[in-house]
Amino acid sequence: MQSVLAIVVSYLLGSISFSFIIAKYIKGIDIRKHGSGNAGATNTLRVLGKGPAIAVLSLDVLKGMVAIWIAMWASDVTWLAVICGLAVIAGHNWPVFFGFRGGKGIATTIGAMATLCFLPALFAGIIAIISIVFTRYVSLGSLIFAALLPVFIAIMGRPSEILIGSIIIGLFAFIRHRSNIVKIARGKENKLGAK
Ligand code: G3P
Repeated sequence: MQSVLAIVVSYLLGSISFSFIIAKYIKGIDIRKHGSGNAGATNTLRVLGKGPAIAVLSLDVLKGMVAIWIAMWASDVTWLAVICGLAVIAGHNWPVFFGFRGGKGIATTIGAMATLCFLPALFAGIIAIISIVFTRYVSLGSLIFAALLPVFIAIMGRPSEILIGSIIIGLFAFIRHRSNIVKIARGKENKLGAK
């Protein structure tokens, strides 16, 4: 029972779209109708600037962390932590409170995976950040992060449940970034700092 509750709470927590709430509060706008149309930190930076973007990024990372803490409190079974991680990211991407139109899940993935397996997430994150610095494509860095997570998890010998979870998370990321992938291929993707 506690496990089911942990999964449901994780999904509901993920469904709190901080970019939507903050954009609505500050400017009275629906963030999904501006910039890239994504309810996430990168689009908040584009539409509202640095302060709100840092707030959204921090809160989205935090909800990923909290979901894993809830799972760990409910049980010490690794599968539960993995499923709660998937649930909080699914909530962020397809939020029940916002018509199932949410973000792309990367900040929440960072929070969940850094809590589940810190070093693989750190190494994948460092390479992703380097790629963003050189290309200025946040989406490309996000995809590199998601693709490298299972690689580092496998190399560093983390539990197979976490490896399987990270592969599903990678699929989530690629599904949610389809439009970014098309734009990158056409050279039309938004660059960080460009208006
Ligand atoms: O994590 C989201 C980022 O990878 C892309 O966001 O707004 O440029 O589509 P956006």
